[in-house]
Amino acid sequence: MRKVVYPKVGGVDSIQIVEEDDPVPEQDEICVRIHRAGINFADLMMRQGLYGSNPEYPFTPGYEAAGEVISVGEAVNGISKGQRVLAMTGFGGYSEMVCLDANRVIPLPDSVSFDQAAALPVTYGTAYHMLVYLGNLSQEDTVLIHHAAGGVGTAVAQICQAYGVSKVIGTASAPKREFVESLGMYFVDSKSEDFVSVCKSLTDEKGVHHAIDPVGGKHLMRSYKALRRGGKLYCFGASSAVKGEKRSMATAMAMWASTPKFDPLKMMRSNKAVFGVHMGLLDDASIFKGHLEALSDMLLKGQIDPIIDSVWRFEQVSDAQRHMHDRKNRGKILLDFS
Ligand SMILES: NC(=O)c1ccc[n+]([C@@H]2O[C@H](COP(=O)([O-])OP(=O)(O)OC[C@H]3O[C@@H](n4cnc5c(N)ncnc54)[C@H](OP(=O)(O)O)[C@@H]3O)[C@@H](O)[C@H]2O)c1
Repeated sequence: MRKVVYPKVGGVDSIQIVEEDDPVPEQDEICVRIHRAGINFADLMMRQGLYGSNPEYPFTPGYEAAGEVISVGEAVNGISKGQRVLAMTGFGGYSEMVCLDANRVIPLPDSVSFDQAAALPVTYGTAYHMLVYLGNLSQEDTVLIHHAAGGVGTAVAQICQAYGVSKVIGTASAPKREFVESLGMYFVDSKSEDFVSVCKSLTDEKGVHHAIDPVGGKHLMRSYKALRRGGKLYCFGASSAVKGEKRSMATAMAMWASTPKFDPLKMMRSNKAVFGVHMGLLDDASIFKGHLEALSDMLLKGQIDPIIDSVWRFEQVSDAQRHMHDRKNRGKILLDFS
């Protein structure tokens, strides 16, 4: 079988495809033949050595994948060969086959495609965790989301629609205006407009209830300023540490050095909250499982439906990641291993 490997820190051209023996499941494992794997922004950061919680190089990235079961360990019950499943790989999803613990595999209903399944967990799971689990989202709330046209951004837009939230403000680069507006969001050009004043002007100068910030660095303080009293800021990414395809340590250091130190006393006086969110480092796996159950229900009811930007053959993984670096994606990028 073949799989994608990051041999060491590098640009998109450093990515390799290697061949190795087909994996055999341990007693409590399931082996899945992958059809689709999701690409996440985190995969780009891992490749550049900017992530902090990935395995040692060389390793195979890929948090999420969908495919069919090809073999089952002797101690596994309830899942059989040929079944279509979502595989929460953790790492290793960019692969033709993967063996993983049986409790990381979720059977798929016939009506859910491999594309939908591979596009859902990380983006929607993260959006749901912030807005619903931590944020107690309600219909009257106003939401600010950055990278609004991306994977998490489009998930936030759909979850807000499902919860009846009518005022969602989305920042993105200029060519994405129409797309962002088509998802029911109020568009703000991330380069040329001041999102803080837009948020204030759209909320009677009060500010938004939820500000969802994957940019990091000094951008976080601007998102904090866009909040109303009692509002919540979610710090869940650091895209401003990434300059392009190749790592720039100067850019990464600038992001880190400009990250604000929030003052708890000032936060107390304004009743504002700041959440740090890293879905890959949740201690209690049942939390994420609960989110996936709720999201599956929403998917089956037609309340959400992942927007797929593009599907690339896995041999084109460098081009697929370059597509994200070039800010061309609208929704989720997938790799095809079928
Ligand atoms: N903490 C967690 O558990 C968690 C989980 C999932 C995602 N995240 C974070 O959420 C963010 C979105 O993730 P995603 O996977 O859905 O990706 P995504 O939003 O689809 O990422 C690509 C988009 O990000 C924007 N962008 C901003 N800075 C960029 C840069 N330096 N290089 C390239 N693109 C940049 C671009 O949109 P514009 O054209 O609009 O600028 C681009 O199209 C990322 O920061 C990611 O790390 C965190």
